[in-house]
This record gives sequence, structure tokens and C-alpha cells, in this order.
Amino acid sequence: MTGKLRKELARCAEERMSEKRFLHTESVAREAVELGRIYLPEDLDGLETAAWLHDITKDLDHGRQLQLCGEFGIMLDKYRAQSPGVLHAITGAETAAALFPDLVTGNVKSAIRYHTTGREDMTVFESLIYLADYIEPTRRHESCRKLREYFYSDVSGKDMKEHLADTMIKSFDITVGYLLESGSLIDPDTISARNWFVRMKNGGLFREFQERLQ
Ligand SMILES: [Fe+2]
Repeated sequence: MTGKLRKELARCAEERMSEKRFLHTESVAREAVELGRIYLPEDLDGLETAAWLHDITKDLDHGRQLQLCGEFGIMLDKYRAQSPGVLHAITGAETAAALFPDLVTGNVKSAIRYHTTGREDMTVFESLIYLADYIEPTRRHESCRKLREYFYSDVSGKDMKEHLADTMIKSFDITVGYLLESGSLIDPDTISARNWFVRMKNGGLFREFQERLQ
């Protein structure tokens, strides 16, 4: 990525978020490139773009999130309308695409859209943004640190594609456990994503995921 574009994306993020969130965003951008070097070296610019923009609406309040959905013509179902955490991913993808229409398309846009929940049939690109957001090193929560440790302790020790799928399953298990404990809504996409990775590991679908990496 050119230094000029990186600066533009960083400025766009910095203007819209707290300092703490900006430091997180910077760290996600570095992590996404790091993961991209392992799994998708041809997509480093796209991954970095999605990382810089993934949280650009997260600091907006719930009312403004709902208002933005209206402006973008997005119909919300009963789960998403009540989930601020998921709403920022929806409004973030649309806002990023409106700001950078040439860059935020396809995988870049859908990676922002699904960076919080995951989804069934996730692409490798989407998985890397989801994971970078989860394990970047400024995350203090023990579960994030443990997942980071798990991923990097074994990344070259076994089939790296299988390792990515294992890490994704672990992340969903942690997230669902946390949501259950805190009495929060669980987005249906999170359950679908988790089940999809498990089915993929247990059956022929895994080949399909591997083929996407080739
Ligand atoms: Fe994030």
C-alpha cells in the first residue's frame, strides 16, 4: 500500500474514533497484514484497507446507528436492531463503501460487515479480518490473549489452513460462552459461522475452504 493511501485511511479512522479505538485500529491493520502474509499475500492492500475502516462507526450511539441504517436503506431484523455491536459492522461497511467506493467492494466490504459476527461460508479474507480484530496485541482480555497465543504457537506446526479453521472455531466458542454468561443476544450469524467451520472440519467442506487458499 502506498504511504499516501495509508495516511488517508488512518486519518479517516482517527477523525471518527477515540484515541483508544484508533490505537486498536492501527494494531488491527498491522495484524491483518501479518496474517495476510501467511494466508493471502496477494491481498495485503485489501486486508489493510478493511482493517483501517472496520470500526469507523463504532463510536456512534445506538440512535445514530439506526438512523444510518435508514439512510442506507438497510432493513434490520429483530436481532440486529437491538445489537449495537452488530450494528456498527453493518453501518461501518456501508459508510466505508460510501467514502471509498473504489476500494471498499467485494471482500473488503463484506469483511467489515462480518468482522464482529462471522457468517456461514466465510471467505478466508473475511476470516483474517475477523481474527485480526480478535487477537491484535493491544487487546487485554484474557480470552483474546489466549486465542492469540493459540494461533501463533502452532501456526507452522501443522496444516496452516486447518489451524485457521481450528482458531476460528475456538473464537466462536469463546464468544458464544461470553454472550451466554452475560445474558446477551447471540447473532444467528455467529452460530451459523461456528457450525459452518465445524461442519467443514468434519466433512468434505474443508476441501472447499482449502481450495480458496490456493
Ligand atoms: Fe475492532
